[in-house]
Amino acid sequence: MLTRYHSVHADTVPAEVVVVGAGPAGLTLANLLRRNGIGCVVLERQSRRYVENRARAGLLEYRAVEMLRSHGLADRLLELGAPHGVCEFRIGGKRFILPYSDLYEGRTHYVYPQQELVKDLIEAFVDSGGDIRFEAKDVALHGISGSAPSVTWVGSDGEQHRVRCEFIAGCDGFRGVSRPSIPAGGVREFSHQPGIAWLGVLAEVPPSTEHVIYALHPKGFAGHMLRSPTVSRFFLQCPVDDSTAAWPDDRIWAELHERFAVPGSDWKLSEGRIIEKGVVDMRGHVTEPMAYGRLFLLGDAAHVITPVGAKGMNLALHDAEVLATALAGYYRGGDESGLTEYSETCLRRVWRCQEFSQWMTTAIHGTGDRFEDRTARTRLENLFRSPASAAWFAENYVGLM
Ligand code: APR
Repeated sequence: MLTRYHSVHADTVPAEVVVVGAGPAGLTLANLLRRNGIGCVVLERQSRRYVENRARAGLLEYRAVEMLRSHGLADRLLELGAPHGVCEFRIGGKRFILPYSDLYEGRTHYVYPQQELVKDLIEAFVDSGGDIRFEAKDVALHGISGSAPSVTWVGSDGEQHRVRCEFIAGCDGFRGVSRPSIPAGGVREFSHQPGIAWLGVLAEVPPSTEHVIYALHPKGFAGHMLRSPTVSRFFLQCPVDDSTAAWPDDRIWAELHERFAVPGSDWKLSEGRIIEKGVVDMRGHVTEPMAYGRLFLLGDAAHVITPVGAKGMNLALHDAEVLATALAGYYRGGDESGLTEYSETCLRRVWRCQEFSQWMTTAIHGTGDRFEDRTARTRLENLFRSPASAAWFAENYVGLM
């Protein structure tokens, strides 16, 4: 069943699967494959230090945490992460608190920085004897339409390597090499730009809130996200063609104070050193199908979603779980059904999250005076008037089980 791989430099490592990219998707998949006794090698372009310090997402769905816990990959997450079951909307200077986990059988999110999860997954994989190659340059995929694909790269030793395998998991993000390796016409791509942009800000300051805040202000949206007890993430709605040059630190803090303001309340926003800022690409993108021949696409390599609703990292973990289960079925009993259904299974959740993210993006940006701003505002207000709407929100926000 298995064609052993060999490299130009004849180092032999059994690998049924080559995983390209060591982000949440690739590392989760690699760990689950090891736990199923399936040989894999992970190829990552960046250094270990770089991927373990790259701050990105930070809100994990209940389902994702349960999945990681069930594979023994959540110990530090459960120790250091914080359950999160309430969010706040600030509309017209008033505060609306939504205890969403109470509306979904007590299921909560977990606040845990993505880079900490990446650290945990790399450690677990390496400790289990996993083969991960950092600083793997010029990764290229070959023969993905056939039954014996291979991947080549230039190692940190400067040498050219090739690995022959049975399957390739493209977990290398939106700008990786996997998806572009698919011949033209092999997949369809769907894209949507909601006509807004966010300035993303990371600051060395303890959060000024215990829960996520979504503030609607005539000057635009502002968000206070949580990451850790010492670092906070903020978002500010800005023009689509804006750049960080237009956002000196003092302007950022002035806008955040103004947009979060609640007249008459003693709530106060704490300031700190801004350690990172950048204009976030608020695009939705989906590739169909999420597989081509022996190549399976996972996470951002297959779909990109706006940060609204915090679904990106969670979808990456879901894809990894679905593919690992499918490959386990294939290697254990030759059952190909999971592989055949992989794309459809993942796309059901991907589109549901895209729809929710679009709903939320519209709802929290209805800050103007147009017809659609009124309807957007009404969507949010419904959360506080209609238990059915609030329950729908809770289920989609925390994540479908
Ligand atoms: N060769 C090898 N590795 C590559 C290549 C390449 N050509 N191109 C990219 N990579 C690596 C990147 O360095 C990165 O570590 O692939 C990894 C992709 O990881 P992510 O971008 O984190 O993608 P994914 O695992 O799909 O997780 C996506 O996490 O970052 C959040 O919210 C974000 O939704 C997103 C989710």
